[in-house]
Amino acid sequence: MKLTTNYLGIELKNPLIISSSGLTNTVKKIKKLENAGAGAVVLKSLFEEQINRDAISMLKEANYPEAEDYILNYTRNNTVEKYLKLIEETKDSVDIPIMASINCISSKEWISFAKNIQDAGADALELNVFILPDNIHENGYLYEQLYDDILVNMTQKVTIPISVKIGQNFTNIPAFVKNLKGRGARGVVLFNRFYAPDIDVDTMTFTSGEVFSNPSDLRYSLRWVGIVSSLIKNIDICASTGVHNGISVVKQLLAGATAVQVCSVLYQNGPEYIRTMLSDLEEWMKKYNFDSIDEFRGRMSYKNIPDPTIFERAQFMKYFSSIQ
Ligand SMILES: Cc1cc2nc3c(=O)[nH]c(=O)nc-3n(C[C@H](O)[C@H](O)[C@H](O)COP(=O)(O)O)c2cc1C
Repeated sequence: MKLTTNYLGIELKNPLIISSSGLTNTVKKIKKLENAGAGAVVLKSLFEEQINRDAISMLKEANYPEAEDYILNYTRNNTVEKYLKLIEETKDSVDIPIMASINCISSKEWISFAKNIQDAGADALELNVFILPDNIHENGYLYEQLYDDILVNMTQKVTIPISVKIGQNFTNIPAFVKNLKGRGARGVVLFNRFYAPDIDVDTMTFTSGEVFSNPSDLRYSLRWVGIVSSLIKNIDICASTGVHNGISVVKQLLAGATAVQVCSVLYQNGPEYIRTMLSDLEEWMKKYNFDSIDEFRGRMSYKNIPDPTIFERAQFMKYFSSIQ
């Protein structure tokens, strides 16, 4: 039985990619993920904010202005150096593909670091872009344009394949993905799941919202994987959020995903759970006589089902009016 899949032009031994997170920030952890069967890993993101914040806190300690340029450059380089070392050491220690991840909130000069990431040996680059749209004087499309700018700048700097990991809050996701493809993206990750604040009503302080996803969160991406994989050709879709077991991997592949990413469930169950997920996938394939993923990928996508309106249904009122 073949579990191989081709994601971003890279052959993966199986479609299970470990998401960018604290699970993928040391060689030791990544080695364990590889031993448990991971198809690929996305390294913890290098954060644009982190580079700048580190620099700012050092600047506060230095009380002479000439230090500014030096410190900004030093901390940036130092943070980047550590990341490049992680890429190099990981590439030396494991055989599975390693994708670097950059969290970008602007298309500033620091994008030039992308070339170093490529030179360090990363097989691909995932752009984790999130810009909180909270400026009441900006039109929504201007925020989307920033994704374009980042992508256009990045594609000029590197030749390794680039994927873009996005959140689900776009007005027209297929059109947005089409646009990303036009700017050079080889793949999209649908979707990222972001940190969100919560409020403790007894202490009236802020706490963190639930950090981990749950299996029912799969529904957010399943619809869009099904629709985008049907409407936009030649872009790979990596399904993310709420993939907690082998059957949710099957669902995303049936909807048209090229690969899936997993994070929360491995925080909860440890790397060895990858084996369980893969054997559940294999068991399902065996049960329905599939020898390879290509035989069933997209079988239940928007374009391949007799009634595509199933993907379009959104209002509970209309379809579940009997539920009181
Ligand atoms: C503790 C933690 C750290 C994360 N760090 C990153 C990160 O550095 N970069 C990134 O793109 N996503 C990050 N994520 C998001 C995950 O990669 C993933 O997209 C999200 O958790 C949804 O997948 P899941 O439902 O399998 O958890 C993080 C998630 C968690 C829980």
